[in-house]
Amino acid sequence: MTAPTRVPVRTRTSADLIRAEEPVLAHNYHPLPVVVARAEGTWVEDVEGRRYLDMLAGYSALNFGHRHPALVEAAHAQLDRLTLTSRAFHNDRLAEFAERLAQLTGQDMVLPMNTGAEAVESGIKVARKWAYDVKGVPADRATIVVAADNFHGRTTTIVSFSTDETARAGFGPFTPGFRVVPYNDLAALEAAVDETTAAVLIEPIQGEAGVVIPDEGYLTGVRELTHREGCLFIADEIQSGLGRTGRTLAVEHEGVVPDVLLLGKALGGGIVPVSAVVGRRDVLGVLRPGEHGSTFGGNPLAAAVGTAVVELLETGEFQRRAAELGAVLRDGLADLVGKGVVGFRSRGLWAGVDIDPALGTGREISQGLLGEGVLAKDTHGSTIRLAPPLTITEAELVSALGALARVLGRG
Ligand SMILES: Cc1ncc(COP(=O)(O)O)c(C=O)c1O
Repeated sequence: MTAPTRVPVRTRTSADLIRAEEPVLAHNYHPLPVVVARAEGTWVEDVEGRRYLDMLAGYSALNFGHRHPALVEAAHAQLDRLTLTSRAFHNDRLAEFAERLAQLTGQDMVLPMNTGAEAVESGIKVARKWAYDVKGVPADRATIVVAADNFHGRTTTIVSFSTDETARAGFGPFTPGFRVVPYNDLAALEAAVDETTAAVLIEPIQGEAGVVIPDEGYLTGVRELTHREGCLFIADEIQSGLGRTGRTLAVEHEGVVPDVLLLGKALGGGIVPVSAVVGRRDVLGVLRPGEHGSTFGGNPLAAAVGTAVVELLETGEFQRRAAELGAVLRDGLADLVGKGVVGFRSRGLWAGVDIDPALGTGREISQGLLGEGVLAKDTHGSTIRLAPPLTITEAELVSALGALARVLGRG
């Protein structure tokens, strides 16, 4: 029997590899046509050796750039020693990770998980348990209030309270117990909260929605309202947190301390999936052995990399860079308003840029940027999201803005 002819991996071109994916990979993504083979810092290189400036940074999973030396070193050292125990046993890396992450975020306790969606699911379970055990909500009556246009992940429960039909259609029946109110609307939130409310769950800045920043005072209002009504404030900082906005957490821009924080993405240093629910002892303390868990959550490799991430954030350098270079990004985008950009929202090194729809869809603009050697991604319609590694230099940032200007100029 003759073996099927398959081009050896090493000699496959980008086009070969894109074609090869089609029959064997589920079509739940529509990637831009670039096949990344290696990366360092803010730059990635494709199979043919073409270099691209990464202005997406894995949706903030690569806040410290690709293969940050301190993170790679921590991972290598841990790979040589111990990688996985499961939580059936203790491991010698987890205590330090939890101590330092709690300290960094001003909270008491950590529930380590892996992906962002798992952290959200875990936060929902903790809030429901807290509602029954502490608040005294009758069994199975707990509600959680969320915002329209949210993005918290892709599990069945999470898409149950999405307002994006593409994320929901065909995936019912959905999990009950959620109330959706408009984002940035305190009156609507107040009307939705009642004695059954376990928590208000929001993103301090809505990333997938197009980097939507609420009015000054909204987060403070959510904090006051949840205090007053006796329910939890859960902030999903999976994309907004860990330096992206110029602070460790986006809620810090209003000096607000939620009861529960959801972290992920950058917590894994772009190396391993690491997420966490971080919160007060009287909240996370409701969990008892056997009630929740994950085989991989808190594994020693994740804890070692996560600790190295916290160590980088403890220096304040990345938050400072995001704030300083965020001003460069904002000024550069302001210069493009009226020249193809119809509006933008930015905080730190994070921007949602609304392109004049007459110039093309967000995807077409992203394709144009790819041709200019810049990786970025559209969100909805004609909005492009920019979220470079926080290690980007001013010159690189200016060159990316120049590429955007050229693409818009050609429209
Ligand atoms: C705010 C927010 N929450 C949760 C998630 C889900 O994270 P993951 O894709 O790791 O499950 C995301 C991912 O984009 C996110 O932006």
